[in-house]
Amino acid sequence: MAEEKPVEESGGFLTNIYLEIVQSPLNIALVVAIAFLAYKILKRKEEPVYAPPEPQLPKLRKDFTPQELKKFDGMQEDGRVLMAVNGNVYDVTKGKRFYGPGGPYAAFAGRDASRGLATFSVECKTDGYDDLSDLNSMEMESVLEWEAQFKEKYDFVGRLLKPGEEPRNYSDDEDEEDSSATSGNSTTPAGDSGGGDKPKSE
Ligand code: HEM
Repeated sequence: MAEEKPVEESGGFLTNIYLEIVQSPLNIALVVAIAFLAYKILKRKEEPVYAPPEPQLPKLRKDFTPQELKKFDGMQEDGRVLMAVNGNVYDVTKGKRFYGPGGPYAAFAGRDASRGLATFSVECKTDGYDDLSDLNSMEMESVLEWEAQFKEKYDFVGRLLKPGEEPRNYSDDEDEEDSSATSGNSTTPAGDSGGGDKPKSE
């Protein structure tokens, strides 16, 4: 009579689990999914966050001539990037990866980007004042849509001054100017305000 072999406690248990898993495709899939998630979680924990937060630049409130705007192309020491669209100047420093040196839209930094945005050209470099009067209605519509995005995301700084136009003194009316600031461009709908102080999303 053959003697019953004593079941190896731990080996048998593990073998059973292994067999349970490999015999069912669903279990295999579950194991793979769990392993993948565990890997992802552990990997994320291991990754040290080296990038220090960008220092916040003081908020700017100022109107600019196109010439004054030019130096805010991200190349100067503080790295601030300003960009005008539709006669309004926005601080796009937090979008530096787009507009900063080497970025895909660097041609817009320190410039009026309206024409480039209207014509979908990242090469378009507007120097000097551009009244955009030759843009057709679709192009102008596109400029307004882009501006709406910038208004949401970035801080409004001031207006892009037409030749001969005087800059506004924002320090006098810091609180009220948001509601009364008008677009600096004559081709836009009247009363288009220049942004606001509401929290902006990244
Ligand atoms: C092959 C063509 C293009 C591709 C694949 C592309 C891709 C993108 C992507 C993926 C974003 C979003 C980035 C993000 O929010 O993380 C973006 C944003 C943007 N693109 Fe383009 N783009 C192209 C052409 C253009 C052109 C021709 C213009 C110029 C008129 C342009 C102007 C912009 C602007 C202004 C932003 C917004 C950046 C911001 O949020 O400040 N893009 N593009």
